[in-house]
Amino acid sequence: MVANDAPASTLKYSEKPVYTASNGCPVADPEAFQRVGSNGPLLLQDFHLIDLLAHFDRERIPERVVHAKGAGAYGEFVVTHDVTDLTSIDMLSSVGKKTPCIARFSTVGGEKGSSDTARDPRGFSIKFYTDEGNWDWVYNNTPVFFIRDPTKFPLFIHTQKRNPQTNLKDATMFWDYLSTHQEAIHQVMHLFSDRGTPYSYRHMNGYSGHTHKWTKPDGTFNYVQVHLKTDQGSKTFTNEEAGKMAAENPDWNTQDLFDAISKGDYPSWTVYVQVLSPEQAEKFRWNIFDLTKVWPQKEVPLRPVGKWTLNKNVENYFAEIEQVAFSPSHLVPGVEPSADPVLQSRLFSYPDTHRHRLGVNYQQIPVNAPLRAFNPYLRDGAMAVNGNYGANPNYPSSYRSLTYKPVKATNDHEKWAGAAVSFLSEVTPEDYVQAKGLWDVLGKQPGQQDNFVGNVAGHLSAAKEDTRKRTYEMFGRVDKELGSRIATETEKLAPAPGSRAAGSAQARI
Ligand code: NDP
Ligand code: HEM
Repeated sequence: MVANDAPASTLKYSEKPVYTASNGCPVADPEAFQRVGSNGPLLLQDFHLIDLLAHFDRERIPERVVHAKGAGAYGEFVVTHDVTDLTSIDMLSSVGKKTPCIARFSTVGGEKGSSDTARDPRGFSIKFYTDEGNWDWVYNNTPVFFIRDPTKFPLFIHTQKRNPQTNLKDATMFWDYLSTHQEAIHQVMHLFSDRGTPYSYRHMNGYSGHTHKWTKPDGTFNYVQVHLKTDQGSKTFTNEEAGKMAAENPDWNTQDLFDAISKGDYPSWTVYVQVLSPEQAEKFRWNIFDLTKVWPQKEVPLRPVGKWTLNKNVENYFAEIEQVAFSPSHLVPGVEPSADPVLQSRLFSYPDTHRHRLGVNYQQIPVNAPLRAFNPYLRDGAMAVNGNYGANPNYPSSYRSLTYKPVKATNDHEKWAGAAVSFLSEVTPEDYVQAKGLWDVLGKQPGQQDNFVGNVAGHLSAAKEDTRKRTYEMFGRVDKELGSRIATETEKLAPAPGSRAAGSAQARI
């Protein structure tokens, strides 16, 4: 270092570093520029000015294609219960073991500057820096999802974003898709309950949604689903409160999380697993690879695993939250993906988008870097900033021995054989059963069914008439009375046929 003798990231506010251009050359005045005389043109030799402008011109990186708006913090996971009968995951290897992590919560459909309180599922991502590599949990605050056929993800997401012509959120697109792909109904029930507008990130649960395998070195495994239950209690906004907050403070959830951690009010979650042995899974009523279904808790009880706490705000939002890169394929020994086709697609999609959004060396960005990683065959590329493995051979060289840790194959359970087919799942009456289960859960909580009907009506009323009618039929398949209540309330709000707003109005929250 010439001008400053410590890296910028370690300088404290109390220190007084020498201001320099990006090459370290001291600069007398950060606002001055070089020109001819006091009124003449600029000089191309003014590296400081050109550096400043050119860098500013490149400040933006692509926002996440989904989950663009988010907030996060650091924390730790502590094992509270022995689960070594289920898995050899190092992070879970002994009671009391602590693992550091970073988390990011997000909305899904809105852009980077959109409101935190929009009706939307919430992303619930955690990167654990374990002794055997980074283990990412890329979950949501709902236990199910809209699709079970992976091809549908981009198509579905398009309908939740903006109309390609008007550039407006479009209630007709939104409900047209959902009412013609009714396997989504269970998730729609979650989305339009008041849990679709959580009070804050601290007051919501997280769910793996997908089934994973927890494995052991002897080759045995169990299927699991992970639940994180908020210790702050589940708390939601009503539709009206969420709309009001969107206008008053669109960054409410971001602020709430930052402020709570700043004042030492650390949010925590109790972590559980549901466990099914391969034999139990075979006899189970529900397809464990179908992301639109839960495992009923009465049949598959929650087993406690640990406590997860967020206790430190980031120093720099861009460096640590915008650049954090989660992926369901960032796994560690002891956990494997299941055959859920949506999960399998996600294994590909996240590192692919990171290479686009952050670059091929995204794992070298400090917030993403594992505690220890050694792969000298991943070389070069844009922004190789970790020393690029120095003189280490870039192939498995007989002159440089590495340690290769043996991995025992997991016992087979599903045996795959058959012709390659073009597959699309079918909607059956089974798809409405758990949706009805949730409708009944809402019925036990005062006002929740009324709120649900109002939440749907407010949104659906902006859709075209034939889409509205198809949607009433869909809700009628969950519960007859629900269908007719939604029809009545929606039609009260729907614009008169032929009026300008019909079919094109911006969807309300
Ligand atoms: P139970 O009948 O045993 O319990 C109901 C569950 O519903 C609670 O544990 C709670 O999950 C969840 N819940 C309570 N209020 C709401 C609400 N307002 N909005 C959304 N979820 C709520 O559950 P079952 O397992 O038999 O499932 C019944 C229904 O509950 C299902 O149709 C499913 O949609 C929903 N549910 C099930 C989950 C599961 O993994 N089995 C998880 C979450 C919801 P929690 O404690 O996680 O908040
Ligand atoms: C973000 C793809 C389904 C949870 C993303 C991103 C992509 C993506 C491309 C942006 C990532 C980034 O730029 O960093 C997909 C595909 C899916 C799918 C292709 C299905 C085929 C799901 C499901 C869940 C989920 C089912 C939850 C169970 C998340 C979360 C984020 C995210 C939490 C935000 C991560 C962050 O905070 O950076 N998804 N997704 N996604 N997705 Fe998915």
